[in-house]
Amino acid sequence: MRLVVASNRLPVVLTPKPGKGWSVEPAAGGLVTAMEPAMRRGGGVWVGWSGAPAVGQPELQRALGSELGERPYGMRAVRVEEAVHRRFYEGFSNQVLWPVLHGLPPSPAVDSLEWESYREVNRRFARALARIAGPNDLLWVHDYHLMLVADELRSLGMENRIVFFLHTPFPRLLELEKAPHHEALVRGLLSYDLVGFQTPRHESNFLEVVDAIGDRGVKGHRWASPKDRPERRRGRSGHFPISIDFEEFAEGAASSQVVERSTHLRRELNGRTLVLGVDRLDYTKGLPEKLHGFDRALHRFPELRGKVVLRQLVVPSREAVPAYVETKARVEELVSKINGEWGDGGWTPVDYRYERWEREELLAHYRIADAALVTPVNDGMNLVAKEFCAANGGSGVLILSAFAGAAGQLGHSALLVNPRDPESLAQAIRRACAMPAEERDARMTAARRSVRVSNVHRWVSSFLEAERRVTDPR
Ligand code: UDP
Ligand code: G6P
Repeated sequence: MRLVVASNRLPVVLTPKPGKGWSVEPAAGGLVTAMEPAMRRGGGVWVGWSGAPAVGQPELQRALGSELGERPYGMRAVRVEEAVHRRFYEGFSNQVLWPVLHGLPPSPAVDSLEWESYREVNRRFARALARIAGPNDLLWVHDYHLMLVADELRSLGMENRIVFFLHTPFPRLLELEKAPHHEALVRGLLSYDLVGFQTPRHESNFLEVVDAIGDRGVKGHRWASPKDRPERRRGRSGHFPISIDFEEFAEGAASSQVVERSTHLRRELNGRTLVLGVDRLDYTKGLPEKLHGFDRALHRFPELRGKVVLRQLVVPSREAVPAYVETKARVEELVSKINGEWGDGGWTPVDYRYERWEREELLAHYRIADAALVTPVNDGMNLVAKEFCAANGGSGVLILSAFAGAAGQLGHSALLVNPRDPESLAQAIRRACAMPAEERDARMTAARRSVRVSNVHRWVSSFLEAERRVTDPR
């Protein structure tokens, strides 16, 4: 069986160079971090967007050159006209679906053209998949951008097994209903043979919605396709908390380059405590909430002043979407306010970086951080939390939002917080800074063990095992 994976993004992003040619960067975000090592191990083909909509296969091949041959999996670029892709990606995917799946209202600026583009891009992906898939290939579609791909593939007469994994949360009906066409989207999901969610709660929200929409032959978490379909198919849902390649992060963080870099970073800190934040710029990541919590900690606990630095990496993301521009402005305003109020010549409390880091730089920071502050207001999983545990060289403390999917696994070893309550954050920051070595060790050891065992390769196996049980329910 060959695996054909589809996600909006390929694991690389192409950007045109000023003169001629393309620069190639790894794509940011948890989906790629998790799936890339899985594809390296299992092989197959990855179908997606190269970051430049009009770029098709020949340009992708030219840009990647020999690198394509070095990867144990292939890549196929899906080509879509720029305007259609913009309405699909910035419009329906990221101004309707992304907020609604995270329990927030959609942007009112989006209308039927965006929906039509969403359908069109799903159709294009389906056609691309149909072109390359052999009859025994398993088609594994990822994330909210591509909910309708199975529907389109079935209309093209494809009989392959087609499965789906949602990387984001799935909300209650009351919230989902705010998305126009939500019924069509949910029906689209029922055309997959298996639909996977990050947590039991997201799966049960989905089943509640399916139940309310009705008429789908759903029993428990299994269903049968509608009677008007030429062939009745069985489908089911499940929950599969995604993870990381533990060894890649643990070994990478112990490499000589990373150790050297982290020694340098540690020296620069001049004995101060490092609290680390790593987030894509996104309103779901709770960045203003984190800053309010840090500000409260400095107010409440004078012993932290001059002693603690919050180094916050904010990775640029979806910069053409207005809500992201607003979030950035809000974050930067808060950073200046905190630094203005508390900082002095020798100490900048919030060391804000709006950029992306190479893997080595990220690992060096994970390695030396005394604590990581991971405070999304809602997150499907949050892989930064797991990466910190895998890469930390000592016994850093994970401060984790109770609203991250990762809290289900790391809740006992982390200090759990409510990011919307600055007092809860402030208390956790103080507690992390003052935690006795023995307690830090015990917590970090438990967290590392858990991430080592429940790694991304195990996640792939459990998903594929569930897929086999759909067709063979014994
Ligand atoms: N990350 C990245 N570039 C950076 C910093 C971080 O690609 O400059 C990665 C990080 O290693 C992690 C991912 O971005 O794997 C973020 O995943 P997470 O699940 O925490 O959130 P997402 O951004 O997918 O919502
Ligand atoms: C989240 C989504 C992914 C997405 C990533 C980065 O992890 O679940 O599908 O790739 O964010 O966002 P972007 O819009 O840059 O692809």
